[in-house]
Amino acid sequence: MSEEKTLLVTNALPYANGPVHLGHMLEHIQSDIFVRFQRALGNKVVYVCGDDCHGTPVMIKASQLGITPEEMISKAWASHYADLQGFLINYDNYYKTHSKENQEISAMMYNEAFKKGFIITKKISQLFDPQKNMFLPDRFVKGTCPKCGAKDQYGDNCEVCGATYNPTDLKDAYSTVSGATPVLKESEHYFFDLPKAGEFLHDFIRNRGVIPFEMANKLEEWFKQGLKPWDISRDAPYFGFKIPGTENKYFYVWMDAPIGYFASLKNYCDNHGLNFEEFVKPDSKVEMCHFIGKDILYFHSLFWPATLHAANLRLPNHIFVHGYVTVNGAKMSKSKGTFIKANTFLKFLKPETLRYYFASKMNSSAVDLDLALDDFVAKVNSDIVGKVVNLASRTAGFITKRFDGKLSSKCYNEEIIKRIGDIKDDVIKNFDSLNYAEAIRIIMSLADEANRYIDKEAPWVLAKTEGQEQKLHEVCTDGLNLFRALITYLKPVLPEVAQHASEFLNDELNLKDVEKPLLDHAINKFKPLFSRIEPSAIENMIAASKEDLKEAQAQQAKASEKKESETEFEPLAPEITIDDFAKIDLRVGTILEAQEVKEARKLLKLTVDLGFTKRQVFAGIKSAYKDPQALVGRKVVVVANLKPRQMKFGLSEGMVTAAGPGGEQVFLLGVDDGAKAGDRIH
Ligand code: 2FM
Ligand code: ZN
Repeated sequence: MSEEKTLLVTNALPYANGPVHLGHMLEHIQSDIFVRFQRALGNKVVYVCGDDCHGTPVMIKASQLGITPEEMISKAWASHYADLQGFLINYDNYYKTHSKENQEISAMMYNEAFKKGFIITKKISQLFDPQKNMFLPDRFVKGTCPKCGAKDQYGDNCEVCGATYNPTDLKDAYSTVSGATPVLKESEHYFFDLPKAGEFLHDFIRNRGVIPFEMANKLEEWFKQGLKPWDISRDAPYFGFKIPGTENKYFYVWMDAPIGYFASLKNYCDNHGLNFEEFVKPDSKVEMCHFIGKDILYFHSLFWPATLHAANLRLPNHIFVHGYVTVNGAKMSKSKGTFIKANTFLKFLKPETLRYYFASKMNSSAVDLDLALDDFVAKVNSDIVGKVVNLASRTAGFITKRFDGKLSSKCYNEEIIKRIGDIKDDVIKNFDSLNYAEAIRIIMSLADEANRYIDKEAPWVLAKTEGQEQKLHEVCTDGLNLFRALITYLKPVLPEVAQHASEFLNDELNLKDVEKPLLDHAINKFKPLFSRIEPSAIENMIAASKEDLKEAQAQQAKASEKKESETEFEPLAPEITIDDFAKIDLRVGTILEAQEVKEARKLLKLTVDLGFTKRQVFAGIKSAYKDPQALVGRKVVVVANLKPRQMKFGLSEGMVTAAGPGGEQVFLLGVDDGAKAGDRIH
């Protein structure tokens, strides 16, 4: 075994706007097995994760549900955490990106990058929802595909013909948030100057062995195409952290998401008296390992190391990349009931069934992993129940009943016991390099040998044969030692089974002692450790997943219904101070004259007395006030210090305040008796 080391292991942070499903579980299971295995080797590990809380989808979903984003993320956190525990994922800390630690570290990293000249600004034009007053990410714009004419396609690609385009290319584009037609609007954005970090990134990807060689080769494409500055800001309204030194710009969710790894670590260190700096300083001895899916490699191998580099922090040592989960050979599908939520799975099946099946098919490549449901049932039943647990159930009873629960003082077949040690290095090598499938294949071939041995020696026959007492004792002792070895090797995959086996065998199941058999050793009474999967459990799980879909659809329908029946409120504008408000000079005015502007569809020309002066104001209230004369004498609220604006029909010297959805529904704000023209509004 190699020298003891310390590792920081992370798993991609699940988004807080949806439940965790079996696609997520692949990675959590992969990283959890790795961590348990590293600990079995004697290494120290800090294993962190948490929820990825920020961004437009979270903000919009919360608004659809009629709750605040904070409420939504705290519910999501509780359910994610419960599901992960249900799958025996043993995080040291499961935290969240919406935390004070994350805000502080993000600000610190941004400020460092800023000081070193990595932050640049430029104006860009983006689609904007004029009704909701917000910029629209591509996935919130839909319309008709410019290539094939398919309706209701997303802003970046057509699901019918596969064309990719810009959201501005869509025909009949509409905002999926409000239904309004988006308009192009310019705004200043903050960018991380990725090209400035180009040389460093190229070296990081090619020469440090962080990313598997084949993947690093593929990533050459990025450099060939040329790196581009990365847009790290979003305009309000946005659920996230405000960028230091700005009024209303927020960090894009992907800026503070990986920093969430450090935030979770910091929170853990602070609660456990550990020194956070030791983990994150540039020359840290701690190995940092990220487990991620292939879809987010770009973020982890370019943006994340670039921001770490700019902030003079440590870099990742390993980025382990996996593929997607398919079910029965196809993409997980909600309508087929194969989009299975973690907690739906746990209602019908034990977590270790999935842990074992995934492990038995997992390697270090990023190819997709198929959960073939029939094969899943067959493999779990045959391997865990038929080969491993069965070894104990066929031998334990004799030890308990015939030998007072005590193992013999020597083995019967030294050869087969030696096989335990023979496979040890190979098993370790394969777990260590994430080739779990190979590790399991080797362990299971030992299980096959062990079962053949027990079949051959047939303790049930020995038990009935005169003079075979000692052989019976020794053969059963061999059987239980083989069982112990199998469980010790499988402990990272089957932690709960291992816990029960440890109680039964009265032994810690330490990897370092695996080849030394237990002899002259008292064991406890055997209890069944695992039960077979009944095919009906699968049928019920699929049916329940279909129900989950119906429930989600009903919830969505309810949210839209609510949206339609309620008055729509514009999102609140960014916060201002009292000093900002004081800049607006609102005065009471009396309308002296009101005339229709014939050439303009919406405008009335008003003359308003402000006491100390008279003003000409054009107001867009024609449809609502069809008889302008009726307005004469009305007291109104006027923005009196608004810069005069030259319009086609004359100079507009202020603004009359009004509220309402528009059209005929515009209502002038009134003033109670007592206030007179010219009085300032405070
Ligand atoms: O792709 C995702 O699900 C992201 N929420 C992963 C974030 S990983 C890390 F960077 F935070
Ligand atoms: Zn198309």
